Amino acid sequence: KMKNFYITTPIYYVNDIPHIGHAYTTIAADVAARFKRLEGYKVFFLTGTDEHGQKVQQAAKDLNVTPQQHVDKLHQRFKELWVKLNISNSDFIRTTEERHKRLVCDILQTLHEKDEIYRDSYEGWYCTPCERFWTEKDLQEGNCPDCQRKVEKIKEYNYFFRMGKYQDWLIEKIKSDPHFILPASRRNEVLGFLEKPLEDLCISRPKSRLPWGIPLPFDEEYVTYVWFDALINYISVHGSLDDIRASGYWPSDHNMVGKDILTTHAVYWSTMLKAIGLEPPKNIFAHGWWTVNGQKMSKSLHNVVEPNQLADQFGVDVIRYFLLREVPFGLDGDFSHKALIGRLNSDLANNLGNLLNRSVNMMKKYFNGTIPEPATTGEEDIALKKKAQEVIDEVRKLYDELAFNKILQKIWELVDTTNQYIDKTGPWNLAKTDEGKERLKTVMYNAAESLRILGVLLFPFMPKSCESLMQQLGVEKKIEEQGMASLDNWGGLTSGTQTQKAKQLFPRIEDKQAAKILEELDAPKETAKDDTGQITIDEFMKVDLRTGKILEAEKVKKSRKLVKLKVDIGTETRQILAGIAESFEPEDLIGRTVIIVANLKPAKLMGIESQGMVLAANNDGSLLIAGFDQEPGLGIQVR
Ligand code: MSP
Repeated sequence: KMKNFYITTPIYYVNDIPHIGHAYTTIAADVAARFKRLEGYKVFFLTGTDEHGQKVQQAAKDLNVTPQQHVDKLHQRFKELWVKLNISNSDFIRTTEERHKRLVCDILQTLHEKDEIYRDSYEGWYCTPCERFWTEKDLQEGNCPDCQRKVEKIKEYNYFFRMGKYQDWLIEKIKSDPHFILPASRRNEVLGFLEKPLEDLCISRPKSRLPWGIPLPFDEEYVTYVWFDALINYISVHGSLDDIRASGYWPSDHNMVGKDILTTHAVYWSTMLKAIGLEPPKNIFAHGWWTVNGQKMSKSLHNVVEPNQLADQFGVDVIRYFLLREVPFGLDGDFSHKALIGRLNSDLANNLGNLLNRSVNMMKKYFNGTIPEPATTGEEDIALKKKAQEVIDEVRKLYDELAFNKILQKIWELVDTTNQYIDKTGPWNLAKTDEGKERLKTVMYNAAESLRILGVLLFPFMPKSCESLMQQLGVEKKIEEQGMASLDNWGGLTSGTQTQKAKQLFPRIEDKQAAKILEELDAPKETAKDDTGQITIDEFMKVDLRTGKILEAEKVKKSRKLVKLKVDIGTETRQILAGIAESFEPEDLIGRTVIIVANLKPAKLMGIESQGMVLAANNDGSLLIAGFDQEPGLGIQVR
């Protein structure tokens, strides 16, 4: 029997212009969905749009159209983008659809009858842009803690969901199921949030203030709070509560969200489900946020990265690859065109693209374009097969944690190993002798088979490119039909198959062209008026500067710039890599007093860990190390 797999993205606010942040969640979910299909699962993959609420109402009013007309038009931008980015969603849910509104009403009615929802007066601080009430103690300097804008004091009657009573259950659930909320750091944040008493959730808004929402079935003076409405999308897509139970898709496998909306999912949604009598999702995964050239993405900074444009310029698969390769899934990341072009040129064009290109060309040259029959088996062949098997096994495991960047790193080990296999065996030399020609058959077969494996493994990330790769290898069977099962044994490729003409998968961006693109796109944008670039004394004090003495210094092999230092900072000795080899001989550094950044996150450079940074000034290309006019003690703070 086929196993089911259900994965969801958040539903996007319809009035936002889709940017790489939205594309990120959706692409990640798409990769997981495509992989599970390759594994033979019956997959349901849901995305959609969140269409009620204040902002939509206001925007429609400004344009002089009805909110419904407005959202009917706007949601298309998301739908079209997902087609363009080759997203394989099974359905697209809109919260203004009948099927959704029907279930929201059913749930409200049932919970009201069961006294899970009650009416009460409420006094609180309301943030209009966020459409959220805050208590006095939530406020930060009198402003909304989320957006820092002004709040208004409002007293009114409203309806409340008895969320508070599920607090203990939820804490227990999170503690007993480590897979429920990932990554672990985010899980601890939610547990921290739950240390305070959990209050009941206000789930209504007076219609007089906000008419654009789903009316409460038991009181027509009110509409439903957008979050209570929106979260239900994950089940309304499957029909009635009975339909959902029968669908085989609940509980869902992964509920993917950004870190900013983890609480609404982990707390509101889980307790809502509990009250409804359904299980919470098996996993809620909160990914990090993208900044752009180090800055928050925002309209006022004119730095919103638009996926449509990006895809036109660099190609859909390049974007899909970059977003998931660049940053560990779960952490924040920084987008720059420079980094994107770097990945395109090195990982994609030089390593993968070139591997395919030269393999197909050599098959053409030496075997008239047919896949040869492998003959001999040597040491190199065994090592290559072993590597492939290791990569396949590891990739499968890494999908359980949605560790996309590790998956890609792992797959690239096979790309590199295959390139090295060709370099080591040297087809161009083998072709010179009769004996060599026999060996060459095996070498070319194995290179091609390795490429087929790469095509299957990379298909979830870069579907179009991998289809092209398969075509070039002459494989007609669709990758979806080959599946992960086709990787169980080496030798899936049929000898005698006619390969196709080599085509470049990822054209390189040449330096000149890159420089032009970067000048246009990565140039610092005009910053907002209130951003003076200044920091507060508190921000400065976060940098832990200390005195230290260099005990040992040696050049890092194969590096022009790096010196490995052992620095005594009084309490301990730190290993620090400094890029100063061009200005100093290691022996001249020993015994010098330096200033180091002691709380810098450790990082690896050329495989060596560096636990800090030495302060130096670049004086026209020659470096000067910051120091003191008298000898200080060790480990003293510098400010
Ligand atoms: N409508 C709500 C979600 C309701 S789900 C029942 C919403 N929509 S949103 O359009 O504002 O955001 C949708 C997703 O985009 C969130 O997961 C959010 O984290 C993500 N991102 C928005 N900006 C982002 C970045 N700059 N970087 C990464 N993801 C970001 O919230």
